[in-house]
Amino acid sequence: MAVLADSNDNELKQLQDGGEGFTVPETNSFGQTFRDYGVESERQKGVEEFYRTQHINQTCDFVKRMREEYGKLNRVEMSIWECCELLNEFVDESDPDLDEPQIEHLLQTAEAIRKDYPNEDWLHLTGLIHDLGKVLLHPDFGELPQWAVVGDTFPVGCAFDESIVHHKYFKENPDYNNPAFNTKYGAYSEGRGLDNVLMSWGHDDYMYLVAKENKTTLPSAGLFIIRYHSFYALHRADAYKHLMNEGDIENLKWLKIFNKYDLYSKSKVRVDVEKVKPYYLSLIEKYFPEKLRW
Ligand SMILES: [Fe+2]
Ligand SMILES: [Fe+2]
Repeated sequence: MAVLADSNDNELKQLQDGGEGFTVPETNSFGQTFRDYGVESERQKGVEEFYRTQHINQTCDFVKRMREEYGKLNRVEMSIWECCELLNEFVDESDPDLDEPQIEHLLQTAEAIRKDYPNEDWLHLTGLIHDLGKVLLHPDFGELPQWAVVGDTFPVGCAFDESIVHHKYFKENPDYNNPAFNTKYGAYSEGRGLDNVLMSWGHDDYMYLVAKENKTTLPSAGLFIIRYHSFYALHRADAYKHLMNEGDIENLKWLKIFNKYDLYSKSKVRVDVEKVKPYYLSLIEKYFPEKLRW
């Protein structure tokens, strides 16, 4: 648990160093520190079992199959806002900090960013949509198991970094003993760019595919945030820097800003959905087609 304790300390420090005019609560709605997987809680056992299953099953082969299947985008046609409403039926089981409807989390994240960065409207919208890929849990999207939808993400096709939560369970992942995939670079090369690296499959990569294939006009930093917002080994432990290119390094600055709000918004701050809805509908219209293929 030593590695975990360290990374949590770093994260808390990062939070406390927070952005301008940005007050960070020290505890979540359960009175515990944020993302403290080491703390004794009723949920902890479930969370550990979750990561055991996730680490065993997220192989290079699995990710390739999922990207091919879901990259077809032949399941549903709907708008971004319709997806927000659909997602509202679910709660993220892997997340020790979240116990409220998803739409609240989405709008809390977006509104908190909007308050501190009023001119970055693309970042407000990114806050709203970053978790929409969780519709993978819905029957219309194949009702994927939790381990294939949520939780921390990480590259596959190269060695699993030790900073990844519950790293020990990777020993049962077939890629762990595959010499093509278990070295520092594995299937990749220096500075290749994260775009060209396969990430464990989940709501992050799915929403990235949806946004890109539907020709969003969000800046590359928005797409970067969507694809890597659960990649804690990158934005908390600075791992995998050797795979990044210059664009990734620029975009990582925005991801680090975003992440404070993603965590912060998981405390109880109510948002009046009907009141803020017209603003977000105008952003959706600006950056996305009316209907998207999912
Ligand atoms: Fe997420
Ligand atoms: Fe989130």
